[in-house]
Amino acid sequence: MNKLIDILDLSVPEINELIAKASDIMANPENYREKCRYKKMATLFFEPSTRTRLSFEAAMYDLGGKVLGFSDAQSSSVSKGESVSDTVRTASIYSDIIVMRHPKEGAPLVASYKSEAPVINAGDGGHNHPTQTLTDLFTIQKEKGRLGNLTVGFCGDLKFGRTVHSLISALSRYSGVRFVLISPNELKLPSYIKDGVLVKNKLEFTETKDLESVMESLDVLYMTRVQRERFFNEEDYLRLKDSYILTPEKLKTAKSDMIILHPLPRVNEIHVSIDDDPRACYFEQVRNGKYIRMALILKMLGIE
Ligand code: NCD
Repeated sequence: MNKLIDILDLSVPEINELIAKASDIMANPENYREKCRYKKMATLFFEPSTRTRLSFEAAMYDLGGKVLGFSDAQSSSVSKGESVSDTVRTASIYSDIIVMRHPKEGAPLVASYKSEAPVINAGDGGHNHPTQTLTDLFTIQKEKGRLGNLTVGFCGDLKFGRTVHSLISALSRYSGVRFVLISPNELKLPSYIKDGVLVKNKLEFTETKDLESVMESLDVLYMTRVQRERFFNEEDYLRLKDSYILTPEKLKTAKSDMIILHPLPRVNEIHVSIDDDPRACYFEQVRNGKYIRMALILKMLGIE
């Protein structure tokens, strides 16, 4: 496999295999400690990251490999005006696999054309984030025991939230998923996902502004941060940033086995008192993210 740009680059059986592999790695980490000996991964982060970069790096170290790269493009030759393609081409000469995050939609795809090594999209602008989706799917499978027959609520910034776009695309291929889209008018799901995925595939979905009115129907609640860095003006951000704040009070009508997910970072959207609620699974997502990325690295490097 020479690139993972969009979650649909992986078939459903391939995703199932990755989930099975991640579970096996989690149960038997010692069997994988040398799998990537002498392999190098380059992490090229043109945009801030905590979990995605650290989980990829931890994944590679736990496979016995090594990591090089940058987490601040200003410290690379990009600050001298080098093109993304030339930077990635260079990194691919020195490494076996590339993980790249960039503020421009499509940049990892363009970079993959020039790369000698497989390229993984670690987030491109407000577009896609396929490895967060693998993390989300792995977490849903572990916590709910299935990926179909679920009512999934997406709440917050559905316009710019790339993790939402990728997870909706992924879940569109499982049967019996009902999508509940909860956002202010200004942050509704873009039409390339709403029409291009939900309407096109005749999937069941509803749109609302009111989280509490749909709470009791949800099996999964996927909270998101309002994406400040994608706004054109600060005023709009300030007006919309606290549209949803999940509190214990608002969870009163939720199912006792609903799970609460969030790709993190959270700003204000989930009150910290919810962290101890057994339904809060966002730090489990953090944990799961390393294992599914280990499985992905092995697959992309063609290592059994
Ligand atoms: C997300 C991202 O970068 O899109 N974070 C992540 O990778 N876990 C979500 C966000 O930044 O809000």
